[in-house]
This record gives sequence, structure tokens and C-alpha cells, in this order.
Amino acid sequence: MTTLETLTAEEITEIDHEIALVPFRKAAAIEALKIVQQHRGWVSDESLRAIAGHLEISPDELDSVATFYNLVFRQPVGRNVILLCDSISCYVMGYEKIYGYLRDRLHIGFGETTPDGRFTLLPNACLGTCDRAPALMINNELFRDLTEARLDEILDGYH
Ligand code: FES
Repeated sequence: MTTLETLTAEEITEIDHEIALVPFRKAAAIEALKIVQQHRGWVSDESLRAIAGHLEISPDELDSVATFYNLVFRQPVGRNVILLCDSISCYVMGYEKIYGYLRDRLHIGFGETTPDGRFTLLPNACLGTCDRAPALMINNELFRDLTEARLDEILDGYH
């Protein structure tokens, strides 16, 4: 038997605030997913069911929103999530070197988390800073004009 997961009072307050800003409850779906992810680090199947219940939509419908929006993590992630841009400008400006360096230093590929839970590495579409490619984002911090030499210094800032 599975226990029914519920949202915390704090999560409900924050989600209800978002619901009040949109015309229908389900229009707050992405914000609700982001709120729960902020509190729990990722969105498990149980969390997803609890959010869907609160938004009065089906878990399948909410899951399709979560799947479409690639910044909602449906599996546990590390303490720091690296989003490496693999779109055209970054690709041309040295993406492969940067990816290779991250793989060698962290010993993980895309979709993986270091055994110590420090980093998860994910590919990401254009981060909107193509003129300063290659670029990546760690948590909410953007890094541009990347070089292999700068990566060590950047990674050392995250524990
Ligand atoms: S292509 Fe990488 S930031 Fe736009």
C-alpha cells in the first residue's frame, strides 16, 4: 500500500499565490512544479500526484507539462545542476571541448550525477547568450565565454 503524499502548508500557500495570478488553476502548472522542486530538489511521482490533485487535473496531464518543460527534474539530481548549452552558437564556439572537459573532470555524462551528489550534468537548449558562447548555467547562475581553464575555477565555487 502506498501512502498518499500531500503538499506542505508552505507549498500550498506559494502555489495558491500563483493560481490567483492566472485564469485557471491548471495554468499555474509549471509554477507549481517549480515551487515543489525548489522545496524538494526534484518532483517525484508522488509529489506530481499531490500537485495534480491540488490543481484539479490528472497526474498524466501534469506529467506531460513536466516532461515538456525540461527544467523540471523527474529524477533526483545533485546539489548543483549544470545545464550545458548544446545549441548552434555554443556548438560552433567550443561546446565539445567544454563537454569533454566536464566529463573528464566529473566522470559523468549527460543525465548523470556524481557519486557524492555534488553535480548533475544536463544538456540544455540555447541559454540566450549566443554572442558570448560557449555558455552553461549552474543552478541559476550563468557562465559565458567559457574556456577549459575557467571551468576549474567555476566548479570549485560549488560544493
Ligand atoms: S547557442 Fe548557446 S547560448 Fe545560444
